[in-house]
Amino acid sequence: MRKGLFALAAAGLLATGSVAACGDNTEGGTGTGSGDKAAGKVGVILPDTKSSARWATADLTYLKAAFAAAGVEADIQNAQGDKTQFQTLADGMISSGVKVLMIVNLDSGTGKAVLDKAKAAGIATIDYDRLTLNGGANYYVSFDNVKVGELQGQGLVECLTEKKYVKPVVAELNGSPTDNNATLFAQGYNSVLDPKYADGTFTKGPNQSVPDWDNAQGGTIFEQMLTSNKNIKGVLAANDGLGNAAISVLKKNKLNGQVPVTGQDATVQGLQNILAGDQCMTVYKAIKKEADAASALAISLAKGEKPTTATGTIKDPDSGKDVPSVLLDPQSITKANVKDVVADGFVTKAELCTPDFAKACTDAGIS
Ligand code: BGC
Repeated sequence: MRKGLFALAAAGLLATGSVAACGDNTEGGTGTGSGDKAAGKVGVILPDTKSSARWATADLTYLKAAFAAAGVEADIQNAQGDKTQFQTLADGMISSGVKVLMIVNLDSGTGKAVLDKAKAAGIATIDYDRLTLNGGANYYVSFDNVKVGELQGQGLVECLTEKKYVKPVVAELNGSPTDNNATLFAQGYNSVLDPKYADGTFTKGPNQSVPDWDNAQGGTIFEQMLTSNKNIKGVLAANDGLGNAAISVLKKNKLNGQVPVTGQDATVQGLQNILAGDQCMTVYKAIKKEADAASALAISLAKGEKPTTATGTIKDPDSGKDVPSVLLDPQSITKANVKDVVADGFVTKAELCTPDFAKACTDAGIS
């Protein structure tokens, strides 16, 4: 059944996406060298530059590098959080003749509209990082997002246990209600927190989603939470941007450092908040690996080959279909292993260890 779907999808792609010498299924997808076949162009649409620092820095940089290394032309654009702009960019890429379209949707509805148009034009499609529900993309590349949430939940439990708070009130600042990843993160952290609420170890506090992961709105929401629940002792914030928004409010109330806050993305700001003792943990997702995996699929498809690098499938909960996918492993980061993120080359010591953080960096073994 799974194989059947996979084969069908792949055959469909070969029929429509083939650009050069056909019938040659040479092992592709690693994207090294300038390629043995004429490759088509790849279009990539990233979502915004505000919901997380990652999109404008990490993803853009790593994707560009991967396509350049393979000698495959890539048009990488950012929709700046604007759904109309997202559609316009997609229309432009489709009419410019891209062979592959890779998107990070702003929501599943507008994402699906774009994927449908691309498919109708015979273009292969890849969901990058966020699954477009019922979107029918040919491939999906992301992290194990439930595990991301579990790491956040476990991190918060550890930080709160260390503080020895009795029945601490925990607030949850969830990601965008229209991002399937936010649903998966919440599934992960609630699988850790719900039993703690149930057995009385923790007290369930306010719980709200932040539209479009808007960090400023996240701050406003958290301020309201804290005003009506002065007793909040822990914050499950779904990413570093939302975590920082909560930390800013805690600082105004002189509560930073006393109220553990979680995050995600291992942004420079998040890591500095950890070094300062204001943030409990973040989740490092090696975006280079994600960009490399997605571009390997895209490069292979752009050459009219059948990709061989999907490692499994995930079920689209809306359509019930299995989507060939690559899901990578996230890593929990606390003060004790911030240095791992530097060692991996994701952030540099120069970016992280600015004068204000020089001592904390040394203490954390970053040299
Ligand atoms: C991504 C996160 C990111 C968030 C906001 C999610 O879909 O997986 O890495 O922080 O969107 O952009």
